[in-house]
Amino acid sequence: MKVLFIGDVCGKAGREALKNVVPDLRKKEGIDLVITNIENIAHGRGATVDTVNEVMSAGIDFMTAGNHIWRRPDFNELLNGDYPIIRALNYPDDLPGKGYGEIDLGALGKVLVIHLMGWAFMQERTITEPFRAIQAFLNGINHDDYSAIIVDFHAEATSEKLALGFFLDGQVSAVLGTHTHIPTADERIMKNGTAYINDVGMVGPYESVLWVKPEIIFQQNMYPYSPAYEIVEDGKRRFDAVLLDIDSSKSAKSIKRINLIV
Ligand SMILES: [Fe+2]
Ligand SMILES: [Fe+2]
Repeated sequence: MKVLFIGDVCGKAGREALKNVVPDLRKKEGIDLVITNIENIAHGRGATVDTVNEVMSAGIDFMTAGNHIWRRPDFNELLNGDYPIIRALNYPDDLPGKGYGEIDLGALGKVLVIHLMGWAFMQERTITEPFRAIQAFLNGINHDDYSAIIVDFHAEATSEKLALGFFLDGQVSAVLGTHTHIPTADERIMKNGTAYINDVGMVGPYESVLWVKPEIIFQQNMYPYSPAYEIVEDGKRRFDAVLLDIDSSKSAKSIKRINLIV
């Protein structure tokens, strides 16, 4: 089974890059499932129903919500079950949405996607400690129901992300980092068959910091006051993803980085 997992998609530039790259890549590589993080898809902040519909029409099958999904009221509609979008598992149960979702690929079986959030430097007060949260969840499912289990670990600290990779090695098919927007070059298949990368990266404006005009971030660092964030929409775009090949025993055969400037 081939799965394309794409990093955080940022604003109009990111949506356009998706539309330029995903349909051709899907055909060329024979991809069965495309997953992306959408926390920055609507002008850098959160997601809207319109922007989600736009990327679904470009061939995105499943989405993870990140920590910015709550920035727009559309989260209610996007997480109520009508859309293939999940929020992090380790938020409290009374929040909208679920931390996991299934995709039925017919003859290839069912894929389980789990979205988990780190807590080092994340300033998300409502999340709980992620290692226990995911272990408790994995203890409660029937692993034979799935032909692949993919974890999007949305976290800031590289050490926390690598530790979770080791923690889940052999329990899931892949542990893939998102949130920092910086692609790392540490992709590997771990000892017990789990594909791992610290951060997949992003899809969005190349001449930006995350998605913000760099001049604004200079000022934020230099002064106690600074202008509001402005998104970069023009110019070149990055497209960062990983392509996974997962065998019938849920182990990853390969993980390949795709880092394009388009
Ligand atoms: Fe992000
Ligand atoms: Fe994030």
